[in-house]
Amino acid sequence: MTTAPTAAPILRQPAEVLYGEELAALTAMGDDARPAGWHLSPRQVVTFITGSDGEKLAFTKDGKKGKVAISRKYHGDDRLVERSVIGLAGNRALLLVGEPGTAKSLLSELLGAAISGTSLNVVQGTAATTEDQIRYSWNYALLLAEGPTPRALVPSPIYTAMTAGSLVRFEEVTRCAPEVQDTLVSILSEKMMTIPELPGDQRVLFAKPGFNVIATANLRDRGVHEMSSALKRRFNFETVHPIANLADEVELVHNEVERLLAGAAAPAKVNRDIVELLVTAFQDLRTGSTPEGISVEKPAAVMSTAEAVSVGFAASLDAWYYGDKKLTADDVGRHLPGAVLKDSSDDIQKLRQYLGAVTARRAKECAGTWAEFHKSATAALGRFQGKPA
Ligand SMILES: Nc1ncnc2c1ncn2[C@@H]1O[C@H](COP(=O)(O)OP(=O)(O)O)[C@@H](O)[C@H]1O
Ligand SMILES: [Mg+2]
Repeated sequence: MTTAPTAAPILRQPAEVLYGEELAALTAMGDDARPAGWHLSPRQVVTFITGSDGEKLAFTKDGKKGKVAISRKYHGDDRLVERSVIGLAGNRALLLVGEPGTAKSLLSELLGAAISGTSLNVVQGTAATTEDQIRYSWNYALLLAEGPTPRALVPSPIYTAMTAGSLVRFEEVTRCAPEVQDTLVSILSEKMMTIPELPGDQRVLFAKPGFNVIATANLRDRGVHEMSSALKRRFNFETVHPIANLADEVELVHNEVERLLAGAAAPAKVNRDIVELLVTAFQDLRTGSTPEGISVEKPAAVMSTAEAVSVGFAASLDAWYYGDKKLTADDVGRHLPGAVLKDSSDDIQKLRQYLGAVTARRAKECAGTWAEFHKSATAALGRFQGKPA
């Protein structure tokens, strides 16, 4: 099994390392009923994901008393988190569906870290995923040398999770061909896997308590390979929505951009006002209407929170390396069109209309940052069309 990396310099730490202290404190709190094979109780798992609201929770570890506040990691519907955890506690597999960038992968990673202490058992679903990647394959050198033995067997992440009694994540499950997806049906209902090549009692692998599957699916991919109803019945479905509240999304994007900048050793100054402008523009385009009540044509591109974070980060890097080390509305305006103009050529027209009807008006009414943003976004859009605005 893959072991979790320690806090050595790597590009991105998994949740169980990043929040290792919080997890250790929660584990030390003891607490109520932990389902078999779980590292934490359902209540503690929810606290780990939705935070303790600033409250410092007491724990005793190695005879020493300590207190820890748990940070909020998923911003959104807390009931969704509770339902997801309860379903898993009842041994039902979980399918998180939603638009891209709504934190489905993040949620499944956090659930893996909290429930099993690892988020690293992952199958990434693609059109090329094969049954072997879901079950097991063979090390051909060993297979030829000694025949089909447990040593020659190369376990899949699902096999590993069954052996360890832990969660396994199946990313983008609907991208796989339906017959490949259906390999999960018997694993989920029987909680076992047969290995016909092995002799005698090694022929069946029984899952240990704690084993379960969390799958994610993007709504935009669903039509590609529809799921069989046999498989659908094995999952609890939860739909994850984009963050609706402006202040919540601003806080999240602000924190994420600052975290990414710190990681990139480019600590540009990021003002909340500029982040609010960026998130407002994203929410206008995502929802198709503005707080002033103007309707906007939604672009085909995904205007997700994750995309807002990446525009904020790119614009801040621009400010750090080429500007005066402070994110401005001008930087945001320059980077926004690149995020919108991806999926469809009609989006150019939609963005042009948005700039003409909404940001031009804001620029007139409140000058300052919106005027700066409007000017640079219009110029950047012109460059996309190959002509100056
Ligand atoms: N509701 C949310 N709560 C916390 N982070 C979010 C939320 N929505 C989006 N994000 C941000 O977007 C990033 C990418 O989300 P991800 O889990 O990859 O989305 P998905 O798998 O749905 O496409 C997250 O790591 C986080 O920074
Ligand atoms: Mg994802």
